[in-house]
Amino acid sequence: MDQITKRPDTSKDMFAADPATSYTLPAWTYFEPETLREETDAIFTKSWIYVAHSSELTEPGQYVTAEIANQRIYVIRTGEGELKAFFNVCQHRGHSLLRGKGRARNLLVCPYHSWSYDHDGALKAAPNCDHVKGFDKGAFAIPQVRVEVFAGFVFVNLDPDARPMSEVYPGAEQRLLETCPGTPSLTTAREIVFDIKGNWKNVGDNLLECYHCSTAHKAFVDLVEMPTYQVETHDNWSIQWGECRPDNSAYGFDAASAVTSNTTLYLWPTIAFAKFPGTDGIATFTFMPTEPELTHQVFAYHAPVDPMTETELKSLDYFQDVLGPEDVSLVEDVQRGLHSLGYHQGRFMVDEDRSAISEHAVHHFQNLVAKSLGMV
Ligand code: FES
Ligand SMILES: [Fe+2]
Repeated sequence: MDQITKRPDTSKDMFAADPATSYTLPAWTYFEPETLREETDAIFTKSWIYVAHSSELTEPGQYVTAEIANQRIYVIRTGEGELKAFFNVCQHRGHSLLRGKGRARNLLVCPYHSWSYDHDGALKAAPNCDHVKGFDKGAFAIPQVRVEVFAGFVFVNLDPDARPMSEVYPGAEQRLLETCPGTPSLTTAREIVFDIKGNWKNVGDNLLECYHCSTAHKAFVDLVEMPTYQVETHDNWSIQWGECRPDNSAYGFDAASAVTSNTTLYLWPTIAFAKFPGTDGIATFTFMPTEPELTHQVFAYHAPVDPMTETELKSLDYFQDVLGPEDVSLVEDVQRGLHSLGYHQGRFMVDEDRSAISEHAVHHFQNLVAKSLGMV
């Protein structure tokens, strides 16, 4: 049966920049199509979005494609060894040039009428163009997209005026490299995909607090010593971490491991890096909206060696079979609750000490949303 239409009650929207007095974002922002349209313009076309680990782009001609805010793009390693990103669209009539990932020859040939471009996006050949009056190949280069590498991870930004990642996320790259020193030399080893029936902000809210951990993740609070858990917020990023017990009901790991803590480092708007104890790699956890109430979540583990260690495999099984599904179930249940005629908005459970269960990182996230939408 269709959901009852719930009208936004904007008279009660009391989001504020101070988490201690603020209400959470109103329920209607989690399903109204207009909100996602506004977020697409204000957030997704203006932010740094993760595309792939740089290990997938080492050889000349190697490329990956991605879709951000319905815009198709590709990132390619050029013959000169530079990393460049472009809109994935032929300048003749708009067909895409590349699909999936792979290695292109010197020329990228459009599958429609064979216009051909070099790795730098310049149009090199267009059948019959010599007979077209005043045709200038130089006027049909493929428009570029901003690209940057952050601790070995490749990000793009559709906004040509975007500030560099070092300014947007001051201190974050350094912190990630301290958490996992070898990130630039890792290789993507596994992807676990969940298409979640929930708004992307609902997924983000759930990711950014451990207030729910002791109730909803019994094995996780056996793995992480919650009294050691800490949460910090920074300009456009936040980080939370805790020391872990090697012997626990999530997955066991060697007490002598180089890393015995669990860390989640979040970069606005749609990625977190997740470090699991006993492993030398790191996971990327991305969540992009496909519809107002559908989120494409990809958990990718990037490993230092092939094959993965037994502890890495056990930690991935724990995420895939236990932790991931527990969170999906929470988010999907909340998404239904947001439609309830009996719910409008809640409060942030924050404390002055910013304790392990304080929800200040959720407010930090929602405040960035609210600022982008002009609500604060
Ligand atoms: S659309 Fe690409 S060659 Fe025609
Ligand atoms: Fe969770």
